[in-house]
Amino acid sequence: MIVDVQGRKFRNLRLSLTAACNYACTYCVPDGKKLQAASSELSADEMVRAVQLLVEGAGIEKLRITGGEPLLSDKFDDVIVGVMGLNLSDVALTTNGQLLPRKVEVIKRSGLRRINISLDTLDPNAFRSIARSGDLATVLHGIELMLDAGLKVKINMVPMRTVNMDQVMPMLDWCMDRNVELRFIELMNMGHLKHNAVYQRDFVGMDDLLRLVGAKYEYSRVDADYDSTSVRYEIANKGSFGIIANESEPFCSSCTRLRLSSNGYIYGCLSSTSRHAMHEVLQLPKHLALNAIQSILRGALADKQPVAFTGEVTVMKFIGG
Ligand code: 5AD
Repeated sequence: MIVDVQGRKFRNLRLSLTAACNYACTYCVPDGKKLQAASSELSADEMVRAVQLLVEGAGIEKLRITGGEPLLSDKFDDVIVGVMGLNLSDVALTTNGQLLPRKVEVIKRSGLRRINISLDTLDPNAFRSIARSGDLATVLHGIELMLDAGLKVKINMVPMRTVNMDQVMPMLDWCMDRNVELRFIELMNMGHLKHNAVYQRDFVGMDDLLRLVGAKYEYSRVDADYDSTSVRYEIANKGSFGIIANESEPFCSSCTRLRLSSNGYIYGCLSSTSRHAMHEVLQLPKHLALNAIQSILRGALADKQPVAFTGEVTVMKFIGG
């Protein structure tokens, strides 16, 4: 097991099924153009094999399937079924939910238990102006289908000062009524938002969010896993919520995440453009592959930021957050 001077090791893998997305969210892409698939994406078999190698060779215990938008990928069915058969303590899926109604059956069949759905507003018009595509009612229907299927649902919301602050409390109440955990994600200073006036204008920090929630509810902070990215709060007899406080409470020093992009590169840090090709390793017999990934992992671990996220121009959009 590879451990760095801060005691960090890899435990969580995020697998991006495709760089393509059917939305063009304002905080993700600058020009309203949807992201396209990478030119050569791994096959479903290669993805499952890569995950298996990282489980055995990197100590990965938890997996999140992400994108782009993972449900857009024609590999989704094979990958989800494949990874559910591996020795992982937890598998989750992050999606914008638009295609969920079409994927209910395979999700049920795979045995997946947890899903995070991105949703920034309950107002259909605001929805269209943020996502610049898609349909709110379809997403809400998808959420109900997941709840009916017994999955644990979390909603990710990016609060933005001039865009959806009026939605913070309605979203929180909507989620708590359904036993869904809402997680506020602080707007990240990356990609086209880096050094950008829109970022300065729209960033909403943890203190402001807590003030808003606190005006209606009493909340208390509860323990989260040591390598959790979210700070969790409970509202007695109502539910709980989380804040992913990239800026207010950076979590780099306990980060255990490793990322694999759809085109076969390992990234050790969301904030680094450094990447490590897996293509050759995936051609090797298992015992040699397990050996060969060790130097990739050492390189990837050295890419992590020491303390706080510095917002390089990469990568959230095509390797998933
Ligand atoms: N800041 C904060 N969150 C972001 N996401 C995408 N881009 C950003 C950004 N710049 C979120 C999406 C989704 C999750 C995968 O990442 O809203 O919920």
